[in-house]
Amino acid sequence: MAKGNHLFDCYSPPDITFERGQGAWLTTDTGERYLDFIAGIAVNALGHAPKDIADAVTEQMGKLWHLSNMFLVPGQLELSEKYCRDLPWADKVFFQNSGTESLELAMKTARRYQYGEGREQRYDIIGFSGAFHGRTFAAINAAGNPKYLEGFGPRLPGFIHVPFGDHDALEAAVSETTAAILVEPVQGEGGVRALPPECLRGLRKLCDDNDILLIYDEVQCGAGRTGQLWAHQWVEGGEPDIMAVAKGVGGGFPLGAVIASEEAAKHMVPGTHGTTYGGNPLAMAAGNAVYDRISDDGFLEHVRDVSNMFRQSLAGLKDEFPELINDVRGKGLLVGLQMVNPGDNLVAKTHALEHKLLVGTAGDNVLRMAPPLVISEADAREAVERLRAVFRGMETAE
Ligand SMILES: Cc1ncc(COP(=O)(O)O)c(C=O)c1O
Repeated sequence: MAKGNHLFDCYSPPDITFERGQGAWLTTDTGERYLDFIAGIAVNALGHAPKDIADAVTEQMGKLWHLSNMFLVPGQLELSEKYCRDLPWADKVFFQNSGTESLELAMKTARRYQYGEGREQRYDIIGFSGAFHGRTFAAINAAGNPKYLEGFGPRLPGFIHVPFGDHDALEAAVSETTAAILVEPVQGEGGVRALPPECLRGLRKLCDDNDILLIYDEVQCGAGRTGQLWAHQWVEGGEPDIMAVAKGVGGGFPLGAVIASEEAAKHMVPGTHGTTYGGNPLAMAAGNAVYDRISDDGFLEHVRDVSNMFRQSLAGLKDEFPELINDVRGKGLLVGLQMVNPGDNLVAKTHALEHKLLVGTAGDNVLRMAPPLVISEADAREAVERLRAVFRGMETAE
């Protein structure tokens, strides 16, 4: 019997092979073009194959690929300086390769801080329902989604969950064993839900009042996606102590980082953490080049302008199809359409593929979009036209 392919069956991709990409457009091996409004789930911030990033990585490839952190990598000094320059609360950075690894380190940093301050009984991390932090053991336990925990042995101790946005439940959960509160300022997988500004400020105060560290997971909502460099920057007075980032910061090159205040990072001393690949010269070439683009005022202004236009058009679609679309959610170019009928998010995603538009889904019956941040208004209009065709088809099928 033929063996089929040799990949784990954790994914079931459609029968399409993409061969190359440019901006928000992908081309298959048979020459068909697709409009990409999910961008590797908020990764290709600068679109596909951006020339300046490709040039930076190619140049580095001709010089030095890998050293390990036994030796200083100048690109790390440069990029950490840029991150901390633009974040008043931030002083220290550790580079990783992915989002979930960055979350691991963010949580380790918080627990280690409490330990170093003589409060070793404080190791609980409080998180919110609907959260997603990646697929390592700590990340699935921190998020607490039963779907992702099933079959992987006993739950790890030290993780507490409260309903999303329930401030009373959160206050009740805080105790002498709390090390940190972990939250996505805009929940991605949970249904593209932005936390209201007063919540972020409330979290900051709650943490200050109780010697707790505040950790933001900006893996999906950071790197310019919401129209600010980092999503929490929309809210004055809602700064974290520790932030995990990834996805867009590498623009497609595997890169993550933990950014922390001097105080929060002070007990992460030699021997407490390490990585072979994290922050290698190639990743730093990509990370520096991406950051130079997205931190530019004009770039973020573009994200705000094009996302406003896109969201207005989506609100128009909601008015046009009230029996299908319940809500337009999210922030900037992290956008969700919550559907009326259960399961319609998946139906719409499947139909969108037939219309050569790539979108994703999220919890809470949401159709998720996270296009490259460099999309033009014409790209956004084209996506809306294709979505209109999708919803017309669903309307007549009902
Ligand atoms: C908010 C958030 N945190 C963490 C992760 C995990 O990142 P990675 O898949 O790079 O490990 C993701 C990935 O989707 C995410 O959306």
